Amino acid sequence: MNVYGIALVAVLATASAAEPRTSGNVYLSPQLKTLQNDPDKNPVTLWQSRGQNLWQAQCQSCHGNMEKLKTSAASFPRLAQGGKTLHNLEDQIALCQQRNPSATSTSTAVNDNDDVLALSAALHQVGKGEPINVAAPPAQETAWQARLASGQQIYQTRMGRINLACMHCHDQKVGAQMRADTISQGHPTGFPIYRMSWQTLGSTERRLRACYSGVQAPLPAPGSSDLRDLELFIKVRANGMPLDGPSIRR
Ligand code: HEC
Ligand code: HEC
Repeated sequence: MNVYGIALVAVLATASAAEPRTSGNVYLSPQLKTLQNDPDKNPVTLWQSRGQNLWQAQCQSCHGNMEKLKTSAASFPRLAQGGKTLHNLEDQIALCQQRNPSATSTSTAVNDNDDVLALSAALHQVGKGEPINVAAPPAQETAWQARLASGQQIYQTRMGRINLACMHCHDQKVGAQMRADTISQGHPTGFPIYRMSWQTLGSTERRLRACYSGVQAPLPAPGSSDLRDLELFIKVRANGMPLDGPSIRR
């Protein structure tokens, strides 16, 4: 194991010694929990059926039944293009959409595209309960470790006018109130999320950008490598936790 691996193990050991890992769903208000558990009222239901319809129209010809990709959502981000880039699930969906000429063309901000989000919701739904399983591809261990180390570095670095790092809130202030929110451990098990304040479904990327904004730091551009490195780090930090999204958030 290289130096990055050792440093990461130390961080994970500190976190798990403090308390068991929990999903953000633990902090849902009773009202939002009721909404989440009622498929007739839950706004995510519509997104899921839109995703299933898109799957049949654009994806099934190559992939067959969506159930075959049951473990997929739990295994992103992954290295792509020979290790040069890191793709999250939404990037993979957008890439695959371009393989199908009948699909709508997507903008560069693919993680905010409604069709991509609908497909992400459907793929997360079939992947519900699957343990997060993000690991280095044996042939690209060095490139992967470098991205992970970068993600960890960002996670631990103070930013913005508020001058706090991710870890100051999501490791050290868990359970504290921040405006009307209770700070969770920041595990990415529940995505994509339908956030009431957004009135729409959003990706992990969008939530991370919201956290930058919360500390009044300059927002990283959609699709930037910083956002992917961070997503890799928080997924690895949550390895073994079951996916429990898509979910509702305040
Ligand atoms: C000033 C405190 C603060 C900082 C710093 C912060 N966040 Fe957050 N974050 C929040 C709050 C508040 C929420 C919404 C409530 C919750 O889910 O924790 C949130 C939500 C999240 C969620 C969604 C959890 C869920 O289940 O919906 C993730 C993931 C996350 N943050 C990751 C990060 C990362 C990565 C960073 C560093 C770039 C970061 N946060 C920085 C306060 C913070
Ligand atoms: C023309 C064939 C083709 C079509 C159509 C297609 N894909 Fe793919 N898909 C692939 C290939 C090939 C891969 C292997 C990885 C790569 O080359 O990107 C893949 C990989 C994936 C993966 C990762 C699977 C894993 O290994 O866990 C996901 C998720 C995915 N596709 C989603 C979709 C979605 C969603 C659509 C519809 C918008 C779609 N694909 C349409 C060919 C296709």
